[in-house]
Amino acid sequence: MTDAITSSGEDLPFPAGFTWGAATAAYQIEGAATAGGRGPSVWDTFSHTPGKVRGGDTGDIACDSYHRYVEDADLIKSLGLSAYRFSISWPRILPSGEGGKGAVNQAGLDYYKRLLDALAERGIRPSVTLFHWDTPQALQDKGGWASRDTALRFAEYVSVVGEALGDRVPTWVTLNEPHVVAHNGHRIGVHAPGLTDDAVAAAVTHHLLLGHGLAAGALRAVTPAGTEVGITLSLTPVRLDSDAPEDLQHAARVTDASFNGLFLDPLLYGRYPAHALPEVLPPAGLIRDGDLAAISAPLDFLGVNYYRPVHLRRGDPARLLLGEAPALPGLDGVVQFDPAELEHTNMGWLIDPEGLYELLLRLSKDAPGLPLYITENGCGAEDYFGTDGVVNDLERIKYLHQHLRAAARAVNDGANLAGYFVWSLLDNFEWAWGYQKRFGIVYVDFATQNRTPKASAGFYAGVARANAVPPLPAEWPV
Ligand code: FCB
Repeated sequence: MTDAITSSGEDLPFPAGFTWGAATAAYQIEGAATAGGRGPSVWDTFSHTPGKVRGGDTGDIACDSYHRYVEDADLIKSLGLSAYRFSISWPRILPSGEGGKGAVNQAGLDYYKRLLDALAERGIRPSVTLFHWDTPQALQDKGGWASRDTALRFAEYVSVVGEALGDRVPTWVTLNEPHVVAHNGHRIGVHAPGLTDDAVAAAVTHHLLLGHGLAAGALRAVTPAGTEVGITLSLTPVRLDSDAPEDLQHAARVTDASFNGLFLDPLLYGRYPAHALPEVLPPAGLIRDGDLAAISAPLDFLGVNYYRPVHLRRGDPARLLLGEAPALPGLDGVVQFDPAELEHTNMGWLIDPEGLYELLLRLSKDAPGLPLYITENGCGAEDYFGTDGVVNDLERIKYLHQHLRAAARAVNDGANLAGYFVWSLLDNFEWAWGYQKRFGIVYVDFATQNRTPKASAGFYAGVARANAVPPLPAEWPV
């Protein structure tokens, strides 16, 4: 793997017009949780529930980007990036989650107008995510995404936003990582709303996808021609030892179908994957006529979030060894594990740039002609100020360097990749990890809200400027 990446000693170019951006999400950066008429979301409830988030951290203040958006727009510009992916907080627009136009919180819409105008003034192209996990608590109280009605309420909200902001937004992402919402939020309960119920998670999967389909239709009805509409998936390559026996190969196919195919197949082909585990598949009774047609309406692009692969081996899910985790429900005798000999980030996530290369080529083969954006990729690391006042986040530079080399190679080998957004512009509220994990290319001192670009910001700005990624150095400075 490493050979394939290091063997070329040249700059690897990206196509002309390639988008270089940075990404954030509303609950992770905005703060101002009760300002300007915002209603609570499931993440407010979850983070305020003792024991759910490390250190009792919440997004109440976060990076205070609600008040500091001009400074943040300046930062993006100073890095020479052409695009910014941020998300809109649904309960800022509709504090009770529903109600159509009469219930719209104008102050919420005005905030996003100001942000979009600040970006436009600086020549930064917005890519706007409509749902990055902050379901209005009022809708959760009525069943949340387990209820079909939430998909309809989502489309209603999206229509309000599309009408108000459509003239300012060229690119919309309906949902961020529906797999993580269903799995982490409703199957294993480590994210809001903290449920642990397979049947609920399966229903949530279908209703999220339906919400995407209805929202995409709503956007197309109210936004100008030429507006791009897509969705962002978290995609996870499944890895085995090269000599893995047939039963493990089968488990890998099932896991791939249950993690990735569960979302890719309905979106691309209008059907759920036959290979997925029954436990994760939405039951037929939930799927109404027309749902799959709405879900599979053509996308303008697919957003890909890539962080790490998953490795499988034989094991006992009831007696896990160090480094093991349960595989999906229904996969007997198989566990996930982290090969200790491979490199990890400080999230404990495996570093596997080749996984990104393979994923981009696979998607370009499965969906020929569909533009891909890497809407998130990045590295959690222990960042700190050196005595010289510099945050020398070498680990992140290495991570980005390797993944950008992999992306450039994939483009060279035929992947239809149109852009890359680093996760994240800022250190921010990292969900169940709170502020303990830093993903930013810009350091945030949460006590003062001072922002300081890290060494990785300089590296990334250089790649964006050159539209090419330099060779890996023979040796990294220590
Ligand atoms: C992704 C999320 C994003 C961020 C990164 C590290 O799953 O979309 O908000 O937390 O992980």
